[in-house]
Amino acid sequence: MVLDTFQRPLRNLRLSVTDRCNLRCQYCMPEAEYAWLPKQDVLTFEEIDRLVGLFVGLGVDKLRLTGGEPLLRTNLPALVTALARHTTVRDLAMTTNGILLGPFAAALNAAGLKRVTVSLDTLQRERFTKMTRQDELVRTLAGIDTAAQTFPGFKLDTVVIRGVNDDEIVDLVHFARRHGGEIRFIEYMDVGGATGWTAAQVVSRAEILERIADAFGPIAPAEKETAAPADRFRLPDGTPFGVIASTTAPFCRDCDRARLTADGVLYTCLYATRGLDLRAPLRGGASDDEIRALITGTWTARADRGAEMRLGVPDRRPLIPVSTLKRNPHLEMHTRGG
Ligand code: GTP
Ligand code: 5AD
Ligand code: SF4
Repeated sequence: MVLDTFQRPLRNLRLSVTDRCNLRCQYCMPEAEYAWLPKQDVLTFEEIDRLVGLFVGLGVDKLRLTGGEPLLRTNLPALVTALARHTTVRDLAMTTNGILLGPFAAALNAAGLKRVTVSLDTLQRERFTKMTRQDELVRTLAGIDTAAQTFPGFKLDTVVIRGVNDDEIVDLVHFARRHGGEIRFIEYMDVGGATGWTAAQVVSRAEILERIADAFGPIAPAEKETAAPADRFRLPDGTPFGVIASTTAPFCRDCDRARLTADGVLYTCLYATRGLDLRAPLRGGASDDEIRALITGTWTARADRGAEMRLGVPDRRPLIPVSTLKRNPHLEMHTRGG
């Protein structure tokens, strides 16, 4: 097992398979135009699978496909089939906006995908269209219906923004309970790409819990999943839900995550400004040992605690200016996969 400077193991790899997305969520992609990764730089499934094999050999046993929107990547089930062959991987999951889940869920499940998390920020059609700039609530909800049948135990992720969707917390809890999904409310984060972020729009974990308790009665803490970002709770009837307090109470000290962008750059923190390019050695004929040494070197030197460091910043503003993001799309949340 490879440990970083805070003794955190490398166990969890998030694979962004494309930087493209079919939504424009205001907390993630609010700009009118984006600089995209060049197509020829995007790793093939064979290249991704080779890198995954090296990560797995170093101790990674959780994989998650992310985007952008991962289902925009052509023939994604074929990648899942390849990844499912790594037998020591105990968790193979995907985070999606759900729009294309209806048509793809069965094939993904057959290929070996174990879990899905669907992003859902509102149940109101007009608000959805305003928040994402696409009139796609109907297909998103259809995707969630399919997820409920194909991937029991699915999760829902809701980013809570004051004055935008914070009046729907209770409705969303009801919705998740009806569909048998575990909902997690995520504090709005000032990551790269969240260019409209303000501290005033953050609804804290404490406030989220208060609103849920007001509607449902006393809330009990529930067991935490190891190294998962969500604090879990139960409604009085036992229904579990989670809160991801990345902004007010970050979980950096337990963070075992690495993220690989679609073009093969390795980041060890959502907030990191620099990553390790693995595409160049991969395409330049480097041996497995050489690539493994690069990964190990980066992880053992890792001292990231990005979200915790942000806590100390007075007068917090969006992390990265738009002009910088345009020059370096790797700084975008949608390139890193959330
Ligand atoms: P499981 O708990 O295994 O189901 O997965 P997960 O919660 O890690 O997956 P998901 O993609 O649903 O992540 C939930 C959200 O947590 C992300 O969309 C981010 O908003 C936030 N998040 C994910 N990774 C990090 C991280 O490394 N640091 C911080 N601060 N927040 C993160
Ligand atoms: N704050 C919190 N979560 C975010 N995500 C993207 N941008 C942000 C942000 N600024 C996460 C959400 C979304 C997933 C794909 O990425 O959880 O559902
Ligand atoms: Fe929304 Fe996810 Fe697309 Fe970002 S990548 S715009 S959060 S659906």
